Amino acid sequence: MRILITGASSGIGEELARAYAKTDNELILLARRETRLKNLADELLPHVKSVEIVVVDVTQFDTLQEKIKRIGAVDMVILNAGISIGHSGEITPFKDFKNLYDVNLLANHAILEILLPHFKAQKSGKIVFISSLASLISMPSSKAYSSSKRALNAYAEGIRYKYKKDGIKVINILPGFIKSELTDKNSFHMPFLLSTKNGAKKIYKAIEKEKRFYAFPLRFYLIISFLNLLPQFLRDKIVNSIN
Ligand SMILES: NC(=O)c1ccc[n+]([C@@H]2O[C@H](COP(=O)([O-])OP(=O)(O)OC[C@H]3O[C@@H](n4cnc5c(N)ncnc54)[C@H](OP(=O)(O)O)[C@@H]3O)[C@@H](O)[C@H]2O)c1
Repeated sequence: MRILITGASSGIGEELARAYAKTDNELILLARRETRLKNLADELLPHVKSVEIVVVDVTQFDTLQEKIKRIGAVDMVILNAGISIGHSGEITPFKDFKNLYDVNLLANHAILEILLPHFKAQKSGKIVFISSLASLISMPSSKAYSSSKRALNAYAEGIRYKYKKDGIKVINILPGFIKSELTDKNSFHMPFLLSTKNGAKKIYKAIEKEKRFYAFPLRFYLIISFLNLLPQFLRDKIVNSIN
């Protein structure tokens, strides 16, 4: 299987690359930090059919699309590259907000604009989105991140409906807190925090089972779902008290 993983230089993407390091697989690892990608490629090379690195900033959309064109057809893309922009609760500067949307949402469409025709021609393909439980509830301090991931859910759902007839499978993953460079920046208590390895293992299993929607850890997902069932005034009270 030919697999493109974005955001493969650290955290969840790096662990997913390790999980997919199997003899039949051709891995394509994409991110900005070349040395980290090279080191990972060296580590995985003995275990895979081939491994290629693609060094690009996904917000440089023209360059990104050129590089994706050069990759050509793949069997699966894991759209994992993502950022958060802190939790200060202050007004987010516009350029940071835009950059967050560029990485978390628009880069994914820039990639799929190139890959979808290949998937359609093959009449198969898997598209994995890495969203977040944060997409299901917006905290005052994470409104930019939460909204970008909620938009990603809507986009993923639309892609799933649109291309089902073409044999394209869409898998949307909504993790809770997983240890990574992204969460290392958080100074607050992170409930149900998972190790990077465990988090990636759960994601790997969900992809292999072709789950259309996988939100985890279950207890955290249930708490958020329960909050969302409450009348708005009650939810407001609880969210405000948490903050
Ligand atoms: N950790 C969690 O608790 C958690 C929970 C829910 C969802 N997620 C999602 O999981 C995904 C992976 O995050 P992570 O926790 O593993 O964080 P991470 O360790 O910070 O990894 C983020 C990855 O995205 C890449 N990336 C960021 N900006 C990029 C850019 N402009 N161009 C190209 N690559 C870029 C980074 O590579 P370079 O810096 O080398 O470019 C890195 O490989 C994200 O989409 C995140 O929103 C994480």
